[in-house]
Amino acid sequence: MIAKPVNYSRTTLTELMIPSYANFGGHVHGGILLSLMDKVAYACATKHAGQYCVTVSVDGVNFRQPVDVGELVSLMASVNYVGRTSLVVGIKVIAENVKTGTVKHTNTSYFTMVAKNDADQPTEVPPLLLEAPDDVRRFLEAMKRKELRTSFSQHFDNARTQMLVKENIGNLEKERCALSDNLNQHLLDLMSSSK
Ligand SMILES: CC(C)(COP(=O)(O)OP(=O)(O)OC[C@H]1O[C@@H](n2cnc3c(N)ncnc32)[C@H](O)[C@@H]1OP(=O)(O)O)[C@@H](O)C(=O)NCCC(=O)NCCS
Repeated sequence: MIAKPVNYSRTTLTELMIPSYANFGGHVHGGILLSLMDKVAYACATKHAGQYCVTVSVDGVNFRQPVDVGELVSLMASVNYVGRTSLVVGIKVIAENVKTGTVKHTNTSYFTMVAKNDADQPTEVPPLLLEAPDDVRRFLEAMKRKELRTSFSQHFDNARTQMLVKENIGNLEKERCALSDNLNQHLLDLMSSSK
């Protein structure tokens, strides 16, 4: 397969935030932005893959600042990394106040997409041609995120199976939660029965 340059599939989606996008606080719903991110990730990934793609996972969705009705939101997407059948699309979201020209960076997120063939099976995607230092940096960062995510899920799965409630219940003391009387009694019974 011939490598395709990052620029081949680079995609920008711009949308005006209309009143029906607002939540009860007057800002734009996070879900509206997620939906737009999914749309631009799909367009970008599908263009690179030459096949329809599906969203498998999303990393780094932290909204740093609210987006307001009337702002012009631009979502800039590019392929950061390709595996065999998967690709990672990095999306930078900015919101512009059209009256003042002020631009704020609301978030940068990473969507992992998988290309599917006509039989709905994962199918190989073209390699990525890196043409700029930023392309290399983003590819390496995506590799690191993948490595960290794998190690996190392995550690978390191990921790989950090993973490017995009775051994860790004390960790809740400083947290902002309370045990109901029934649950407290149940846990006391559990602990005394296992002594
Ligand atoms: C995506 C999907 C095809 C993966 O199926 P699978 O049986 O795990 O297939 P594979 O093991 O061959 O994985 C395919 C690729 O996805 C990647 N992948 C699978 N799960 C992943 C996850 N949670 N995060 C990141 N990548 C993942 C694999 O690493 C592999 O990448 P590679 O080929 O580049 O190495 C399957 O999970 C699916 O169809 N999910 C539903 C997707 C969907 O419908 N999304 C829309 C939500 S409404």
